[in-house]
Formats: sequence, C-alpha cells, structure tokens
Amino acid sequence: MSESLTIALTKGRILKETLPLLASVGIEPLDDVDRSRKLIFDTTHSDVRLVIIRGTDVPTYVRHGAADVGVVGKDILLEHGAEGLYEPLDLGIARCRLMTAGPVGWRSDGARIRVATKFVNIARRHFARQGVHADVIKLYGAMELAPIMDLADLIVDIVDTGNTLRANGMEPLEEIASISSRLIVNKAAMRSRHALIQGLIDRLAAVLPAR
Ligand code: PRP
Repeated sequence: MSESLTIALTKGRILKETLPLLASVGIEPLDDVDRSRKLIFDTTHSDVRLVIIRGTDVPTYVRHGAADVGVVGKDILLEHGAEGLYEPLDLGIARCRLMTAGPVGWRSDGARIRVATKFVNIARRHFARQGVHADVIKLYGAMELAPIMDLADLIVDIVDTGNTLRANGMEPLEEIASISSRLIVNKAAMRSRHALIQGLIDRLAAVLPAR
C-alpha cells in the first residue's frame, strides 16, 4: 500500500496562512505556488503532494478519497456538510465571522424578508430557527450589491474587517458562526494510514499558537 499523502488546500487567503503552517512541519511546495499555473505540487517531503483548488471542492476531493487530507473554511463545511469526513483540528487561521448584514438603519417590518447569499443552507437554517420567513436568493459573489440594487433586503456573508460592508453602506447585524480553517481527513484513509495521518495531525497541533 502506498504511504504517500495528498493534501488538498483551499486557494486564496486560506492558502497564504496554510503554507507557513505546513512549512513549520517540514512540508514546502517545490514550486512557487503564486507564480505557477500548476494544480499539483510536489513538496520537500517526498511522499507528500499538494493540490490547490477552490474551497468548495476541497471536501469533495477528501470525501471521495482523491485527497487524503484537506484544509478548508468552516463556512464551507457548515454549508455543504461534512459527511464522510473527520474534522480533527481547528487550525485557527483565516478567522472571520459569518453574519447577516443589511443597509445601515434597516429594520424588519415583520413581513417576509429577501436574503441574498452564497450560503443558502446556512441562511435557511438561521432564519428558520428564528421563525422568520426568508426568501433566500443564491448568488455567487458580490453579495453586498444585492440590497443596493433592491434584489434583497439582507445578505448572509463572511465578515472580516467589515470594510466591504462599510464601503457599500451596510452594517453587520447578527453573528451566525465564528469561522476558521479546519483540517479534514478522509475516513477510510484515517483507518488505512492511521500512523501517517495521525502523525501529521499531531505535528500540526504542536505548532499551532496556543489558544
Ligand atoms: C469575503 C466576503 C466579503 C469580504 C469581507 O470575500 O464575501 O466580500 O471577504 O471581508 P472584509 O470584512 O474584510 O471586507 P472574499 O474576498 O473572501 O472573496 P469571495 O467573495 O470570493 O468569497
């Protein structure tokens, strides 16, 4: 049985914070991931390779065993589910909040509200828990535009600094979840290559800042 390990990483901001963590446990890509157009990277650890993909695809690769391990935002796991996956470690990176937000001064008039978001499942659960009738409209980006264009009353989105909301005349309302990146593991791989994967988990856990 192969003892190689494939790790699926989320590109973008999460990747920038993941690479130093991996480097501190001796795993560094051989090519510059910012300059290369490659999707698969060999590393300084001859048995470990990295694939760098969209966050929404990371759980899919890991669930099907195409990658053994992944790094992905908790927002993706909450939205798309974590069946078939272990989630052994909160890496504490790429921290942000998943929030409802609306135009400054917006108040509900008690009628149905329209909510634009790419997190439709999270939004539906959130408003259902509150007993609020929400028509959830799926968007793929630039959620902040929806209230300005009267496509929606509110949005559900990731808030980090709050700058994007402020720049578009909006304010955060309610926090739905506190988000950070998680290590996820394919369940079958966890059994068949337990020592290798548990070793990686332990080494990563040891270099995480104490929280
Ligand atoms: C997220 C989110 C907001 C922005 C919030 O988008 O959708 O637009 O960050 O950050 P801020 O509070 O610091 O302004 P991101 O840049 O991750 O891109 P995305 O829309 O592709 O998710």
